[in-house]
Amino acid sequence: MDTDKVFDLCSSVCIRGFFSVFMNVRFEVNGIEKVVEAPPMKRLLDVLREELRLTGTKEGCGEGECGACSVIVDGEVINSCLVPVCQVQGCTVLTVEGLSRDGRLDPLQQAFLECGGAQCGICTPGMLIAARALLDENEQPTRDEIAQAIAGNLCRCTGYVKIIDAIEQAAEIKER
Ligand code: FES
Ligand code: FES
Repeated sequence: MDTDKVFDLCSSVCIRGFFSVFMNVRFEVNGIEKVVEAPPMKRLLDVLREELRLTGTKEGCGEGECGACSVIVDGEVINSCLVPVCQVQGCTVLTVEGLSRDGRLDPLQQAFLECGGAQCGICTPGMLIAARALLDENEQPTRDEIAQAIAGNLCRCTGYVKIIDAIEQAAEIKER
């Protein structure tokens, strides 16, 4: 066997070995500490949906373009389809399931209901997460600031106006 073939064989064995390795990833999800055993490069999106059964977070494009998979990690909105689970070791993750508290909807969820901000619903969890991150930083955003905050979240149904209305209405509710 020539040297190149030996090298190719070694590379593929290493790569297969790498993907079959599992690691324990410890992180907080919606206020609860979790330890997940998963391949380190498994997408956070898949770990949330498949391992933790948090199926509120959606997959749209799977390529970082639509925002359907948005979650908040350590205060920043990220696309969970692009982040390997090993990168959230020790982090705090908020998904759409963590927005309601004590059985009460987050004001954003209530406003989306009242304003018709959700139609098919695929974009809605990501929109809510992006909006929550905005309101956590800026309690009284302008409509332009709202539009900017959800610019990475695509909606094929609403035309965005009702979504912006809903976020604006939620911002007017003092008790968040
Ligand atoms: Fe992640 Fe579209 S599914 S950005
Ligand atoms: Fe259908 Fe936004 S409500 S994609």
